[in-house]
Amino acid sequence: MKTVKKSPPIVAKFPHFIHGGDYNPDQWLKWKDEIWKEDFRLARLAGINSFSVGIFSWTALEPEEGKYTFDWLDRVMDLLAENKMTAVLATPSGARPAWMSRKYPEVLRINAMRQKNLHGARHNHCMSSPVYREKVREINTALAERYKKHPALGVWHISNEYGGECHCPRCQEKFRAWVRERYRTLDNLNDAWWTTFWSHIYTDWSQVESPSPLGETNIHGLNLDWKRFTTEQHVDFYLHEIAPLKKITPNIPCTTNLMGTYPGIDYFRLAEVMDVVSWDNYPQWTGTDKDADIAVLASFKHDLTRGLKGKPFMLMESSPSATNWRPVAKLHRPGVHMLQSMQAVAHGSDTVQYFQIRKGRGSSEKFHGALIDHEGTEKPRVFKEIAEVGKRLKTMDAIIGTNTPSSAAIVYDWNIRWAVDDAKGFLQTNTNYEQTVVDHYSAFWQLGIPVDIIDSTKKLDGYDLVVAPMLYMLRPGFAEALDAFVKKGGTLVTTYITGYVDQSDLCFRGGFPGPLRKCLGIWAEEIDALYPDDSNSIKWKGKSYKAFDFCELIHAETAKPAGTYGSDFYKGQPALTVNNYGKGKACHIAARTGRDFLLDYYKDLTESLGIQTAVKKLPHGVTAQVRSDGKTDYVFVMNFTPGKQIVDTGSTGQKVSGKWELDPWECWIYERESRNEK
Ligand code: GLA
Ligand code: ZN
Repeated sequence: MKTVKKSPPIVAKFPHFIHGGDYNPDQWLKWKDEIWKEDFRLARLAGINSFSVGIFSWTALEPEEGKYTFDWLDRVMDLLAENKMTAVLATPSGARPAWMSRKYPEVLRINAMRQKNLHGARHNHCMSSPVYREKVREINTALAERYKKHPALGVWHISNEYGGECHCPRCQEKFRAWVRERYRTLDNLNDAWWTTFWSHIYTDWSQVESPSPLGETNIHGLNLDWKRFTTEQHVDFYLHEIAPLKKITPNIPCTTNLMGTYPGIDYFRLAEVMDVVSWDNYPQWTGTDKDADIAVLASFKHDLTRGLKGKPFMLMESSPSATNWRPVAKLHRPGVHMLQSMQAVAHGSDTVQYFQIRKGRGSSEKFHGALIDHEGTEKPRVFKEIAEVGKRLKTMDAIIGTNTPSSAAIVYDWNIRWAVDDAKGFLQTNTNYEQTVVDHYSAFWQLGIPVDIIDSTKKLDGYDLVVAPMLYMLRPGFAEALDAFVKKGGTLVTTYITGYVDQSDLCFRGGFPGPLRKCLGIWAEEIDALYPDDSNSIKWKGKSYKAFDFCELIHAETAKPAGTYGSDFYKGQPALTVNNYGKGKACHIAARTGRDFLLDYYKDLTESLGIQTAVKKLPHGVTAQVRSDGKTDYVFVMNFTPGKQIVDTGSTGQKVSGKWELDPWECWIYERESRNEK
C-alpha cells in the first residue's frame, strides 16, 4: 500500500471544507440592495462559506475596451470578507464581450468544417489569437492587481470548462510547427503516420492540415497528434492565463474546472500545470435501483480526478437538485444531495460546491438547481438539504487534506481512449473503452476497496495490484514499467486488445501483446468480434459466465490457463491466464464479460493478495471508501439504493461498530485507527 500523508488545505488560511458555488451577482446589479443582502443572509443560514465569482463577467467588468468597472466586484469581495467567506475568483475568458468579437473577428473559433463561429454562446475563442491572448492578459492582470491584497481572495478559477478545438489558419500553423518539432524530418513524420497508405505521403510541411470531414480522417497518427496538440493548446492557454496571476499573487492556488472523462483534453497532462484539480459533477440520478450504477460512474470520476495529481481535489460544481440541460431534469430525491456531496468527499474532495447559488430569471439556466430558488427564501426543500450539508461539513475539518490509502490502481489513459475509439476493426459500435474501465472499477467499488486511477505516465511504486483494461496502446516506457512492476512482486491484470499498437498507433510486429508478450506469457493470435445477439462463455472455478463483444484467441505460452471458452470453434481454449513472472504474476482476461464475473474475479484475486476491504461485506449498491492521515482512517459507508441496508462493520470501528441500518441514500462516516498493512 502507498503511504498516506495529509496534504495542506487548498486555501492555507481557510482550513475548512469550502462549501459554496457559482454566484452571479452581476445578473442582479439593478436590484443589488435587495438581492445581494438576501444572498448573503441565506448563504449564512445554509452554512455557505464561499462564492465563485466573475466566471462569465467580462462585459460587466469591461463594458468598453480598456474601461474597467470593478466597483461592483469590489463590493462583492468586501461582502465576502465581512461574512468570513472565501472567494473563488474567476478569470472571465470563458465568454467574451460582443465588442471584442466585432472589433477583432480573429478571436472567433473556426470549426473542423473550416467555418467561423458567430459571436455568442461561450467557450469558443481561438486559443492562439494574439488579440484574445492580449485581452486576457490585460484583464487577468487588472484582476490580480486589484484583489492581490484582498482578504477574501482564496482560489483562482481559470476560465470555465476549457474544451473544444480551433481549426483556424493560425492554429494550423501552430500545429505544423508542433508536428515539425516532434518529428524533425518529413521522413520520420511519414513513417509515424504510415502515409504511404492511400498515397498520403507529405512532401512538404505546409501540406499538414488538421483532420476534417472535408479532408483527412483516416490517418490515425494524425488524428492522435491533433488531439495531443489540442491538449497542448489548452495547456499553453492556461499557462498564459496564470502568468500574471502567478507573478502578482504567487501564493494563491490556481485551478480550472474539468469535466470528468471529457474526451477532448488529456487531463493528466493539463493537471500537471494546475495547483489543485477541480471538476464539475452532474450524475444522472434516477431515484431507483439504477442509482447504484450511476454512483459507480460518479465515484470513478471522483477517483480519476483525484488521481490526476494524487491529492485532494475540489468539487467545483454539482447540482443540488435538477440539472436543466438533461433531457429529463428529474429532482434529486430527499437525501440524495447529502449523499452525492459526501460521496465526493469520500473520494478526496475538500470542497462541496454548486452550480448555482441563485437562479437567474432568464436565459437557459433559470430552471437549474440552486441554493436560492425564484421563491427567494429559506423555505424550499432544496435549501434545507443544502443547509444540512453545511452543518455536517462544519464538523468534518479533521478530514481536510487526508488522502486515499490504495493498494490497487486502475489505468485510464486518454491516449488509449483516443486510439481505441478511432480504431477501425474489431467492434466499432461497441468499443466502450470508458465503460470497460468503469466495469472493472465497479468490482472494487462494490467490494469497498479504495483504488487510484492512473494513466501510463504515473509511477507504479507502492501498489500491489495494477489493472489495465483494454491497454491497446503502449506508450513509451509503460510496457517496461509494467514488466518491472510484476518482476518485483506486483500483480498485473490485462484484458483483450492489449499491446496492439505503439504511441503512433502503429501495430507491434512479432505478435500481440507486443512488448508485454513475455510478461503475460501469452500470444494473442486473433480477436473475434461478436454481434450484439452473439455470446460465448467463460468457464472458471466451476462456474460459467457470459462472454460477449470481444473474444480474443490466445495461446498460453509460459502462462497457465485459468479459465476456458465454453463454445464455438475455440471452445476449450484459454480465456483466462496467469503467468508467474519474477516475484509477481500477470493475469489476462481474454474476453469481455459482465460485472458479475468481474466482481467474483477481483474478490478472489484481492483476497489471495491480502488486499483489505474498508468494510467486510457490503450489500449490493452500498460502498465503503476511506480517507486517512496515516493515523486515523475515516470510513464513508454509503447506500445508493432506495431501500434500507444493513452493514456489518465488524469490530474495527473505533467510534462505532456492529450492525448499522442505513436509510435509503444515507452516508455514515466513522473513524478508526489506521491499519498498518504491509
Ligand atoms: C457547467 C458549467 C456551468 C453551468 C453548469 C450547469 O458545468 O460550468 O457554467 O452551465 O454546467 O449544469
Ligand atoms: Zn485558432
